[in-house]
Amino acid sequence: MTISSIVSSLCAITPDRLVTNNELANIVDTSDAWIKERTGIEQRYFCSDLETSSTLATRAAKLAIEKANIDANDIDLIVCATSTPDRTFPATATLIQEALGIPVCIAFDIQAVCSGFVYGFGVVDAMIKAGQAKNALLIGVDSFSRIMDWADRTTCVLFGDGAGAAVIRASDEQNKGILANILRADGRYNSILNVSSGASLGSKVGKLHMEGQAVFRHAVTNISEAIVLCCEKAGVNINEIDWFVPHQANKRILDGVAKKLKIPEEKVIITVDIHGNTSAASVALAFDHAQKEGKIKKGDLVLFEAMGGGLTWGATLVRL
Ligand code: UT7
Repeated sequence: MTISSIVSSLCAITPDRLVTNNELANIVDTSDAWIKERTGIEQRYFCSDLETSSTLATRAAKLAIEKANIDANDIDLIVCATSTPDRTFPATATLIQEALGIPVCIAFDIQAVCSGFVYGFGVVDAMIKAGQAKNALLIGVDSFSRIMDWADRTTCVLFGDGAGAAVIRASDEQNKGILANILRADGRYNSILNVSSGASLGSKVGKLHMEGQAVFRHAVTNISEAIVLCCEKAGVNINEIDWFVPHQANKRILDGVAKKLKIPEEKVIITVDIHGNTSAASVALAFDHAQKEGKIKKGDLVLFEAMGGGLTWGATLVRL
């Protein structure tokens, strides 16, 4: 009997093209000093002309499948969280399916912007526990370099591209895997973080728009609440958590949440300096980095959290 969804592997990649703050200062009126001071970002990676969300995602997925030591043929569910799909349809999940040669399975995209990976944990966990899948591939990918407004210095310095993928399997082990998941959205705030157009509004892709201060005001409160609720749901004391893997939007938000919840800073994984905000890939990239540094290990209790356009937000607690 399936009683848990075990995260067998979680890997992430960025495109190769590294872009420094100084490079962006050649495009808009900004400076390395402002970006570092107000956000903590030092660099980010952008797709080349040949790369797309599906090609990035396929690279991350191959790593996750290899690390989980399973055959791609065994995957029976692909959930891809993205706000920058290759095409309006079909789902990017099906493009990844084809690229990986995965036979007929369930494959679809979800759209929760920067909260996409955390929403994906919830969707995959529910489907596994409902008996719909045994070996799921969860992907978070975004290529925001394609939707940036290059005339808007308040947003174009913040984002980067990347992809993350997790293999999540059904198991009968107790107290392991995804222990709790809290998901929230409040559509009243859709106008403070959005893309200006889309298929049904006029067929243009549109450009990213954000009222940064307004989003910032919601971030610390919403994220902190989600963390507390997630711990309550799992019956876990916040002090027991080994690692906090937050969405990497702004170092000041991460510090604010840590201060509010009295989380020791050494438990918070911070990679916003090297990746910028990679939206749905963000928590996967942070996890992958910490894993490679030898910080996060099997058996650890890990809390993922995020907030993004919608507004959407949430938290997931995982025993690795
Ligand atoms: O991933 C989804 C969730 N996203 C977030 O959580 C992002 C939340 N928001 C933020 O992280 C911050 O609000 C920003 C990083 C976007 C902006 O930081 P801020 O401290 O809120 O700056 P601000 O918007 O209050 O702007 C302060 C000043 C303004 O100039 P004046 O009016 O004081 O003269 C801006 O015009 O900084 C100016 N400014 C810049 N200056 C140099 C804004 N962007 C830049 C820039 N370079 N890139």
